[in-house]
Amino acid sequence: MATKIKSVWFCTECGADSPKWQGRCPSCGAWNTLIEEKVSAKKSKSVTLSQRSLSRPQKVSEIEVVEEPRIKMPSKELNRVLGGGLVAGSLVLIGGEPGIGKSTLVLQNTLSIRSKRILYISGEESAVQLKMRADRIGRVCDNVLIACETSLENIMTHIENTQPEIVVVDSIQTIASDEIESAAGSVSQVRECSARLLKYAKESGVPVMLIGHINKEGSLAGPKVLEHIVDTVLQFEGDRHYMYRILRSIKNRFGSTSELGIYEMGQKGLREVTNPSEMLLSHSENDEELSGMAIGITLEGIRPFLIEAQALVSTAAYGTPQRAVTGFDSKRMNMLLAVLEKRVGFKLAQKDVFLNIAGGLKVNDTALDLPVICAIMSSNVDMAIPKGTCMAGEVGLSGEIRQVTRIEQRIGEAEKLGMKTIIIPKYNLKGVDKDRFSIQIREISKVEEAFRMLFA
Ligand code: TYD
Ligand code: MG
Repeated sequence: MATKIKSVWFCTECGADSPKWQGRCPSCGAWNTLIEEKVSAKKSKSVTLSQRSLSRPQKVSEIEVVEEPRIKMPSKELNRVLGGGLVAGSLVLIGGEPGIGKSTLVLQNTLSIRSKRILYISGEESAVQLKMRADRIGRVCDNVLIACETSLENIMTHIENTQPEIVVVDSIQTIASDEIESAAGSVSQVRECSARLLKYAKESGVPVMLIGHINKEGSLAGPKVLEHIVDTVLQFEGDRHYMYRILRSIKNRFGSTSELGIYEMGQKGLREVTNPSEMLLSHSENDEELSGMAIGITLEGIRPFLIEAQALVSTAAYGTPQRAVTGFDSKRMNMLLAVLEKRVGFKLAQKDVFLNIAGGLKVNDTALDLPVICAIMSSNVDMAIPKGTCMAGEVGLSGEIRQVTRIEQRIGEAEKLGMKTIIIPKYNLKGVDKDRFSIQIREISKVEEAFRMLFA
């Protein structure tokens, strides 16, 4: 019987389908995101009640808790982000921009697990390319079988023949099922392929790791559909021009999403960064003091680390002053500049302001307001902030310094890294045992106080 081919319009934002084209997605409200895909209409099998297995609702206290068996990954950072290892039968998605190092991360890890049989499906690179990469990483190990394949049906056959203990699919956007008309990477293909792999993972108890590319808007291409099918979504991010990479957990059915792993991309693949603070500070002990630099303590997930804000304030060479920011929210910087104008009396309207967060990391922590504002003040008056000083604090619209989260952890990290003084919001000190720390703790409640403390 010939299967009927029909058109379905899928939203590239949320994956919702619609029987006809519409200008606006009825599900997520995005404009102009519906694209046509051909799918073969499958006859739905009618299931009678006796065929369907019916489960009995249970009381919470009756439910038995069994610890899921986990496969420990060689990389400690990856293990932590996964919540303690790869859970049997789980479907893990590793997303990231092209070229960020997803394949390297997964290949490097799988090559180091000697005790497991691993099937690595590559739809992007040839076997020779993968061998070259394995050589470069410096680990050639025969527990990993490589198959360059893009057909889902062939992949399932390979799985059957090799009986792997872990399956890697690089990437989900390159594989396609023969049963669906549309091209690889389309919403219906991505959905179908991941659903089939999910079914395999759940039935066999073999964990499957999917690699997925992220589109320009920052969502996983082929997109939200994938996010809710899988058990765990890890995002690998960083600036390609810098060495640092952050592995973040966005969704995890088997662990916390506040965990974070930090890596450095080098000649021989990825290296774990166990002490990020030391790497993110650009200057060392014996360097001379420079103006325009301030050290902040930020939290990524639950991990504190020191990070450097660098600012340059100079007289505008052209009519309109420039504002350029990397690694920090530019709107937030404009707000901080307005606070400086109003509260400290800086005339910044005729000045170019450049701001950079060292290391190429994008930080999203309001506690960086204070270091950013101090770096700008330091550059504007051309006076360096004393060495060994760091700070954390949110700046409010009227120039008040507001509380930040987990202050004790931040102070602890600063102390561990040999900082001498830490400037924190006054209101944060309630309940903090100052005597526990040997670092000097200075409190402020207004931006003006920070100015006087550092530059007067
Ligand atoms: P890759 O893992 O292919 O990225 P993705 O799978 O996310 O597209 O690798 C990305 C980049 O990493 C590539 O441009 C080369 C670089 N790289 C190194 O710098 N050192 C190495 O040892 C390896 C293997 C890759
Ligand atoms: Mg790749």
